[in-house]
This record gives sequence, structure tokens and C-alpha cells, in this order.
Amino acid sequence: MRAWSRAARADGRRVGFVPTMGFLHEGHLRLVDRAATGSDTVAMSIFVNPLQFGPQEDLGSYPRALERDRQLATSRGVDCLFVPADQAMYPRPPLVRVSPGTLTAHLCGPWRPGHFEGVLTVVAKLFHIVEPDLAVFGRKDLQQARIIRSMVDDLNFPVTIEVASIIREADGLALSSRNAYLKPVEREVAVLLSQALEEGHRRYRGGTHDAREVVAAVRQVLSREATILVQYVEAVDPDTLAPVTTATDDTVLALAAFIGKTRLIDNIILGVGLGADERLAATAGTV
Ligand code: PAJ
Repeated sequence: MRAWSRAARADGRRVGFVPTMGFLHEGHLRLVDRAATGSDTVAMSIFVNPLQFGPQEDLGSYPRALERDRQLATSRGVDCLFVPADQAMYPRPPLVRVSPGTLTAHLCGPWRPGHFEGVLTVVAKLFHIVEPDLAVFGRKDLQQARIIRSMVDDLNFPVTIEVASIIREADGLALSSRNAYLKPVEREVAVLLSQALEEGHRRYRGGTHDAREVVAAVRQVLSREATILVQYVEAVDPDTLAPVTTATDDTVLALAAFIGKTRLIDNIILGVGLGADERLAATAGTV
């Protein structure tokens, strides 16, 4: 992998990189488009990173479809697909890991202990292996993108980080590999996640700047479906990821909820709402 990357750079080409866990969807592929815009050749990794899954989480059942992914990635312009084996990435459990610090105090942090340490450790390894000039992440995983940016800044990784907007289904559901877990009735219910965030946006636009009231409006919509089990709804500062009391245009409104056994996350930037993100056409028929 490193030889490929170094050869590209020796040729004067900028290397773009999109790390993924596979089971690719249009959200991942837009990151490829974005990487291609800012670089001359694009590498993608597919690696379901055991280090970022908790003991009760879905590592064993995480969807995999390598051949399909290979075709999707190649036809979208990925020049190099890096699919390391678990044994290659972790010949033994790493003793030294990258600590995310206080950015995990809110949102997914308290609910997924060790998750962001696992993410940072694998992303640091991938950056050292791929040596990209540019790496692209999705705002779908806003806390992840924010923490990776901090790692790169604080530890002087020589890579530029870009964060792309969220790609959504026609009805507003954010694309996620985990949507494949949803049963048809659960899929219908899942639309409420983005609708609840949009209700928060509407309240804010209507003059409600008390963050507690905005959050309550989101929870109100989610409570319409007994099968939605909310983990958190928070209005946070986009830089510190700490909850705000007074909402502003750049406040992030984020949530995590279980629908059945499937844990989904979503977020909007309060001043913009769902309008900041792109929706697929109704006929796209993605998972
Ligand atoms: P994964 O969940 O496969 O996501 C890979 C990248 O795709 C992440 O940057 C994520 O934010 C982005 N993404 C997912 N759904 C998206 C959507 N609907 N719109 C836009 N971008 C979307 O995130 C991971 O993998 C892993 O934690 C990883 C960074 C690869 C480290 O293991």
C-alpha cells in the first residue's frame, strides 16, 4: 500500500484517501468524488475495525459485500482499494493507542466507551500506511470527523482533512451501512429521526433559541413511535461538542437512537437543517 502511494507522489500526484468499513453506499461514493476533486489519485480502505466495536456491539454481524464494494469503488474511480486482513492490522492487540481526550464527553462518547479511541487508532495506522495528502470523512459521523481533525492538528499528521455533507434517502433517512439491518416496518419508522431534527430546525427558525426547548421538540417527534429508543438528543457547539444553552446558526443538533436492534445516528446544523444535505432520487433503491 505504501509503495503504491509513494510511487504516486514520486510521479507528482496528490493522493486522496477515503477510509471505510465497506458495504458501500452512495454516501461513501460521494466521499470518493470529493477526494477525486482535491487529488490526482484516490485510495479507499475497507476494514471493519474490531478495535472500535464494544463487546455488545455488532462486529460479528456488520454487513460485508467485498465483491460488490470492489465494483462500486472501481467504477466510481477508486484507483487503489486497500483491504487489509485483521491479522495484518493487528498482529496483536496494540498496547499504544490514540486517546481522543475531552471531545468524547458528549454525544456518542458516553454511550460507546473506547469507540473513538478505536477509531483514532485505526485512522492513525491507516494514515501511516496510506500516507495520503487529503482524507475525506462524512458529517454523518460528526463527532468522529471532529475528533480526527483534532488528532491531525494536535499530532501534526501531514494530511488535509475534508468533511462532506450527509447523503440522505429521498425521505430524509441518512444513508448508513447499518440501514441494511432495518426490517421494513423499522425502515418506515426510521424516517422520524431526520423529521425530528427538522422539527428542531423549524422551531429554531421560528424564534426558539433556548437549546432545551429545541431538544424537547426533537424528543417530542421521536416519542410518537414507541419502537424508537432514544439514546441522546443534544444541541452542541460544533467545535467543543459541548452542549449549549442558547442555540445559534452553527449549533449542531445530533441524536442517536435504537430502532429495534439497530443503532442509528443523525445530525443537522441548526441554522440550515436538512437543506444542507443531499437527497437521493426516490427511485435510487439503495439499502
Ligand atoms: P463507515 O461507517 O464505513 O463510514 C466511512 C465514511 O463514510 C465516514 O467518513 C462516514 O462519515 C461516511 N459516511 C457514512 N454515511 C454517510 C452519509 N450518509 N453521507 C455522507 N458520508 C457518510 O466511519 C467509519 O466507517 C469508520 O469509523 C472509519 C472512519 C473507516 C474507521 O474505521
